[in-house]
Amino acid sequence: MMDERGKESGVAAMAACYQKFDPAAYLQYNYTPPRADFSRKDSIVPWKLACLHRAFTEGDVRGELLVDIGSGPTLYQVMSGCEVFNRIILTDFLEVNRQELRRWLQDEGGCSLDWTPYLEHVCKLEGRRPSAWPEKAAKLRQVTSDILPIDVHCSQPLAPDILPSAGADCLVSSFCLESVSPDLPAFNRALGHIRKLLRPGGHLMLIGALGESYYFGGPGVRIPVVPLNEAQVCTSLKESDYTLIRLEVYTLPQDMRVGVDDVTGVFFAKAKRD
Ligand SMILES: C[S@@+](CC[C@H](N)C(=O)[O-])C[C@H]1O[C@@H](n2cnc3c(N)ncnc32)[C@H](O)[C@@H]1O
Repeated sequence: MMDERGKESGVAAMAACYQKFDPAAYLQYNYTPPRADFSRKDSIVPWKLACLHRAFTEGDVRGELLVDIGSGPTLYQVMSGCEVFNRIILTDFLEVNRQELRRWLQDEGGCSLDWTPYLEHVCKLEGRRPSAWPEKAAKLRQVTSDILPIDVHCSQPLAPDILPSAGADCLVSSFCLESVSPDLPAFNRALGHIRKLLRPGGHLMLIGALGESYYFGGPGVRIPVVPLNEAQVCTSLKESDYTLIRLEVYTLPQDMRVGVDDVTGVFFAKAKRD
């Protein structure tokens, strides 16, 4: 059994890896074609957006507050939820990522990625014209109330009194827990920590990498990842007292394997806190 110091040093080593994370490079690696090719159904990003759209439009997910855990420099993961929830809180461990998000929210230019094709695509999923994207952008800016620091390795990941005492109504987390944890037990503990942020009966949308052992968070910034399989995801959710509603799996086509990681697939889990 690993002692407390062993656990802490694993987590500290992960935090050290993140000090060189480069939001612009990360966006370029993962959120431009071929991984974000909206003309292809088998591209990763359209697959993720379709999963999120479906999950938020089935009628069972509702409430006031959605919290996105480990947002990074990305916004795609809240583009469907912003139509359902009146308030969204974005969170990340790194100030550089929170800054990137602030630049977009404040609409002052200088963003590392143009989110317009994403907004257009989600408008299409919602049965609206792609040209309605400025309304969606305005909606997302209107409902996002805060961009806050978070550490999923703390038993209380957010500062005290940020959330209503019952917790948020919904959590979204994409590619965070497995890529910030030194091993599977730490991943499971982090899942338990974020559970405390969610009210009983609230929903978790967990998106993550399958079979991944590392990714590049910038040129030469190799970040270790806990390689997960579908069975482990299901077990971890069950052990954290979630009821799994659906697990969807995407397998990376050969041409999406672009040398920025060794991911083999992506999972999307929709679950409900017991
Ligand atoms: C692979 S990125 C995922 C970003 C984004 N959610 C996405 O879908 O692409 C992992 C994110 O976790 C953040 N992170 C690192 N350590 C963390 C921690 N201890 N707690 C919460 N987030 C952390 C990083 O800053 C980074 O933004």
